[in-house]
Amino acid sequence: MNSVSTRRISILGSTGSIGVSTLRLLDETGVAGKDYVIETLVGGRNVALLAEQALKYRPAITVLADETQWPAFRALIGDSGLEIACGASAVCEAAGRKADWIMAAIVGIAGLKPTWAAAGTGAILALANKEALVCCGRALIERVEAHGGKVLPVDSEHNAIFQVLDDPGRVSKLVLTASGGPFLGRSREDLKAVTVEQALKHPNWSMGAKITIDSATLANKGLEFIEAAYLFDMPGSQIDVLVHPQSVIHSMVEYKDGSSLAQLGSPDMRVPISYCLGWPKRIDWQAPKLDLAARGVLTFSAPDLTAFPMLRLAREALEAGEGMPTVFNAANEVCVQAFLDRKIAFLQIAEFVESAMMRAQLPSIPSKDHASRDTNDETMTRALEIDSEIRRLVGELFANARLSA
Ligand SMILES: NC(=O)c1ccc[n+]([C@@H]2O[C@H](COP(=O)([O-])OP(=O)(O)OC[C@H]3O[C@@H](n4cnc5c(N)ncnc54)[C@H](OP(=O)(O)O)[C@@H]3O)[C@@H](O)[C@H]2O)c1
Repeated sequence: MNSVSTRRISILGSTGSIGVSTLRLLDETGVAGKDYVIETLVGGRNVALLAEQALKYRPAITVLADETQWPAFRALIGDSGLEIACGASAVCEAAGRKADWIMAAIVGIAGLKPTWAAAGTGAILALANKEALVCCGRALIERVEAHGGKVLPVDSEHNAIFQVLDDPGRVSKLVLTASGGPFLGRSREDLKAVTVEQALKHPNWSMGAKITIDSATLANKGLEFIEAAYLFDMPGSQIDVLVHPQSVIHSMVEYKDGSSLAQLGSPDMRVPISYCLGWPKRIDWQAPKLDLAARGVLTFSAPDLTAFPMLRLAREALEAGEGMPTVFNAANEVCVQAFLDRKIAFLQIAEFVESAMMRAQLPSIPSKDHASRDTNDETMTRALEIDSEIRRLVGELFANARLSA
């Protein structure tokens, strides 16, 4: 890692919910352009916002993924003298540029290659793109560490665990809390006719569309369950999910001596992002504070796996290993998009994911599990192969079910 006092920061997915929160935090802590300089900004297709960010923060390079928007982007950047580039390989090149701190916040499998590239830079990797970790497993963490970097979890649950994990050898259980999403308490029957609009209304968090739907199905908690197993090197049998609708306790670690340590905070992603930004110290900023007296009551319950089978499927995917978490992730991504496009119903997301997991033919892996001990590109390449095969398979399942997907 760079030892100079000015830190170079790259934000992959700067136009998304996490990217915007990161830049807002840099503004609010009053350090943007002083202790920090922006090395790279990467956006998908929101050219107006990406151009606005580029003109404001003047990064060394700004990259737009969507080539169809390139003329519009160039026009917005004008003769400002900023270095800009476009396309998927430019995104990966920019992600692999030397930096001190990189926020990996591109959503879904689209983030896999750039996150993998960032993992090879030796930077601190603030990891929001959980899908990359789900698909690459421990190999992603090992790649970061082999290059002298460090993975810091951005997900509020994993960030909470990271903050209270003071004796990893004596952990009896990790407890991931879950808000339960907008459909908490509903039965399977009640979920038959829920709409996209209802699923997009998360009670506590404001997030991108994909993760919001994942929160409604509990697939997000399933991805987080797999993420926790890889991040903290824990078997699934030692990870529990606890529904806690107020989203005040972000997760807990239960130790063998009977103590449980929890991290609490307002449901605002700037809190875990600020922890990652300041690590190993904390940042002093005007963070939203908790008023527990006003909250009054915190409640907890076990998740309903009948109404929300995605959590069970994630557990099964982790147990199966050998690429099955990638199958779970890929099938889920395709189904979430189909639900957002109103091609399948809410409950069909889990049904198609389960079918894909049952039918997936994964080539056997000769010498090692894909989720361990590999710092070259083999793991990432294999994950992308499985991903495209599963996208094809789910397309076939849709066609057999006579959908127009
Ligand atoms: N939001 C949260 O509170 C939260 C909490 C924990 C973890 N996470 C994780 O953080 C990641 C981002 O979530 P989000 O809610 O911020 O998502 P989001 O609001 O949908 O933003 C996604 C970002 O990825 C960019 N992007 C999409 N496709 C791309 C591509 N092919 N190449 C390059 N960039 C691309 C988008 O660009 P455009 O918008 O310009 O198209 C946007 O900047 C996800 O993995 C999510 O699970 C999010």
